[in-house]
Amino acid sequence: MKHFLSIQDLSADQLIDLVNLGDELKANRHVNPGSFTPLAHQCWGLIFTKSSTRTRVSFEIGVRELGGAVMFLSDRDLQLGRGEPIEDTARVLGRMLHGIIIRTDGHDTISRFAEMSGIPTINALDDDEHPCQILADLLTIKEKLGSWEGCKVIFAGDTDCNVARSWMWAAERLGFQLVLAGPEEFLPSAEYLKGFKSGNVQTETDLKAAARNADVLYTDVWVSMGKEEEATSRLDTLKPYQINQAIVDLAKPEALVMHCLPAYRDKEITAEVLERHADTIFQEAENRLHAQKAVLVRLAEGRSQ
Ligand code: CP
Ligand code: NVA
Repeated sequence: MKHFLSIQDLSADQLIDLVNLGDELKANRHVNPGSFTPLAHQCWGLIFTKSSTRTRVSFEIGVRELGGAVMFLSDRDLQLGRGEPIEDTARVLGRMLHGIIIRTDGHDTISRFAEMSGIPTINALDDDEHPCQILADLLTIKEKLGSWEGCKVIFAGDTDCNVARSWMWAAERLGFQLVLAGPEEFLPSAEYLKGFKSGNVQTETDLKAAARNADVLYTDVWVSMGKEEEATSRLDTLKPYQINQAIVDLAKPEALVMHCLPAYRDKEITAEVLERHADTIFQEAENRLHAQKAVLVRLAEGRSQ
């Protein structure tokens, strides 16, 4: 693996390998700390043009735990923020850093960086996908349910957002059932859905119908970063797609409630349901660290080949 840009780019075997390695790294995190250093003598950069708590901290800790150093680069400080092209930024940083982790709007920007820099590039969220999140979610499902095989996963709310799209590619590759439950205007376009040939990805406008017998109820914010101007209409249209106790009661008794965080209580999820399922939701957040360490390890191996 040279880069980690999207779930779409990965095979089922690569996805399963990353989840399994994340699991192993988690189990061994406190065994001989400092003894496994595949990133020794390396410095990885983080370019974030959008806010982050979990992604930034988990990558900074992950790189350090694997023996590397990190440099956080905000677009407020880089010449990128004053109009220097991403291609020039990539060619400069590629000669100095050993890898880069980018959070920005356009998927093209991250792909161009990967192409022009020649160093391993990780997508830390863009408008199209949030692949790091889905790896952590899959690890959490494996830990909590044993496997995602045969699972019915419901993604409720804005089902055309980055996190939903990464879920769609995970279902396509791994074979579980994913039902996107949202209003017509927040379902992926027919054109986008054409790319999913397996029949594993379905859409449903009735959340109650979707939630019946679900193994996982998943939601994300209704107003993603960059969509703030649409906040009022989004909050109104998405109201019927809240994960509340009545919806949870329709799912299997042992169903997981998951959220990538940050959560807006009593919007996409009630405070009551979030607190009742906090164990799963914060385990998901912790798993960002372990799953992303797996990505870093595999990319470091790719460099040395
Ligand atoms: N879930 C997630 O990516 O969180 P941050 O925006 O805090 O990184
Ligand atoms: N869909 C959300 C995910 C945040 C982690 C956003 O893009 O803001």
